[in-house]
Amino acid sequence: MAGLPDQKHPDLLVGLSTSDDAGVFRLTPDIALVQTLDFFTPIVDSPYHFGQIAAANSLSDVYAMGGRPLTAMNIVCFPVCDLPNSVLTETLRGGLDKMQEADVALAGGHSVDDKEFKYGLSVTGVVHPSKILTNANAKPGDLLVLTKPLGTGVLATAVKGNVDLAEAEALLIRIAGTLNRRAGEIMTNFQPHACTDVTGFGLAGHALEMSRGAKLGITLFANKDLFIPKALELASIGLLPAGAYANRQFCQNSLTVNPLVEQVYADLIFDPQTSGGLLVALAPDMAKDFVATMNDQGLFAVIVGEFGSHCTDGRLEIVNNKV
Ligand code: CO
Ligand code: CO
Ligand code: CO
Repeated sequence: MAGLPDQKHPDLLVGLSTSDDAGVFRLTPDIALVQTLDFFTPIVDSPYHFGQIAAANSLSDVYAMGGRPLTAMNIVCFPVCDLPNSVLTETLRGGLDKMQEADVALAGGHSVDDKEFKYGLSVTGVVHPSKILTNANAKPGDLLVLTKPLGTGVLATAVKGNVDLAEAEALLIRIAGTLNRRAGEIMTNFQPHACTDVTGFGLAGHALEMSRGAKLGITLFANKDLFIPKALELASIGLLPAGAYANRQFCQNSLTVNPLVEQVYADLIFDPQTSGGLLVALAPDMAKDFVATMNDQGLFAVIVGEFGSHCTDGRLEIVNNKV
């Protein structure tokens, strides 16, 4: 949508121009609407679990704005002549179960006949206008916290290529199918400054957006705690999605990779994620407390980076683990 003119409306608090996770529109001084939509083609063989992953992914952008999703509508493109109806029913059932887990009401939807099956949601949520978390607004010295391990792009590539199918698919279903709801709720207790979710551009691409938004360089700490162990194993035998190379290319002009960083870590930082975790910028003490609270509840959270000094455009540096 880069070719469209910038939309100006006094109540449009977040619009197209900042490539944020969702649009935000102020209704009253205390309530703003958060609106987003997303859909994609199946990444697992089980229609039910595809529905769950697609719904978790669509809902995530509302959590990434600091918001609470309320209602959703199904978006369906379905090859009526090529696939049995049960595939669609199971997909929608998976999506609905995920919406119910999120306390989100299914309010409707629309379907069209299409050669390629696609499913997703448009989601409406709310946020207090003073609690909106955009990509921007991180402060110098903030730490970056990630709330899901990386590597779902590699797992999806394994599923597609029939490599370690059962294990890769089970992991993909569990990790990509997890709602970012609890991470989003817990993060709001630690005064976060900025947030996004990690999806198609990978950790590096989404971190670069946050760097550009804040006009602060980011140092990412590459170490094995960031990654799904199975994805590390598969990536080290060369199984990487094409998107990882495209993401690296996209970041190239703003990127330095320390030569001591293990190749496979440097590769996976660009792995495109499906329904990835939240990426949250918080003051250092808050970041440590957020991670500890998440881990105490058995939830994944690691510190993946640090905001540094001013830069006019985005800048990323990837280094070894900072102890
Ligand atoms: Co997003
Ligand atoms: Co999105
Ligand atoms: Co955000």
